[in-house]
Amino acid sequence: MQFKGRDIVSIKDFSREEIDYILKTAASMEQIAKQGSDMLHGKILATLFFEPSTRTRLSFESAMNKLGGTAIGFAEPKVAAIKKGENLADTIRVVENYADVMVLRHPLEGAARLAAEFAKVPVINAGSGAEEHPTQALLDLYTILKEKGTIDGLNITLMGDLRYGRTVHSLAYALSLYNVKLFLVSPELLRMRREVSDAIKQKITVVEASAVEDVLAETDVLYVTRIQEERFPDPTEYTKVSGTYKIDLKTLKDAKEDMIIMHPLPRVDEIDHEVDNTPHARYFQQVWNGIVTRTALLALILGAKK
Ligand code: NCD
Repeated sequence: MQFKGRDIVSIKDFSREEIDYILKTAASMEQIAKQGSDMLHGKILATLFFEPSTRTRLSFESAMNKLGGTAIGFAEPKVAAIKKGENLADTIRVVENYADVMVLRHPLEGAARLAAEFAKVPVINAGSGAEEHPTQALLDLYTILKEKGTIDGLNITLMGDLRYGRTVHSLAYALSLYNVKLFLVSPELLRMRREVSDAIKQKITVVEASAVEDVLAETDVLYVTRIQEERFPDPTEYTKVSGTYKIDLKTLKDAKEDMIIMHPLPRVDEIDHEVDNTPHARYFQQVWNGIVTRTALLALILGAKK
């Protein structure tokens, strides 16, 4: 298996064997992520964030620092040269001289693919519009595996904004490589985008539902997402769905005792804070697992780990 020099643009570029290998590598990095190492000493990561982010950017920067490398970049394109009208391809051809690997977040679908075509160094997609967020899917899988000991055999419910949420697109593609049953729960307006649901239905059993109560008793992993207000082409559509779903203690009364609840964060109002103290909540553990998974990805891509 060859990871050195690879781009991570879409989760669809990876086979089940490759994903399993990444998850195994992540497990072997837990200790290193805690204690630090000099594995990537002298290597530079550039973060190019054309959209707001807290955790994904800090998570990559922290992972790089933990491996002894350094991180440079911008999170506010308004103050970068982009403001002067520079196009993405030029930005990439400049930044590749400064860094050994680039992490890009961009509002346009296809942006990461374009960047990867221009860049001589590996490009990691940290979110391409509503399309994909492959490293989030990898850390989500890592969380499921760590918490449940398996991915195969589980019933997994993806709930919320399945149309504009990029994390659930990458996660659904990835889960379709495993032996899982997938429940998709969303308001009608926010149903899973066709391109994704058509593809995954070829591989696994997918059941669409409009109420989480209909599938909760069977669910092993409940993955909740916020409504992506900023991606709605028409604000009146947003007002129709805003506040239409919420997980609280009442919703959870029929849940399996060992069901876990995940969320890519940020949370708005879709999981009540009273759920945080139940044994189901795992969304803050996901944040740590993000660091661990990203140290594994950086070490593999930069050739420090085989
Ligand atoms: C997600 C994203 O940016 O797509 N956040 C993240 O990376 N953890 C989810 C979201 O913004 O709702």
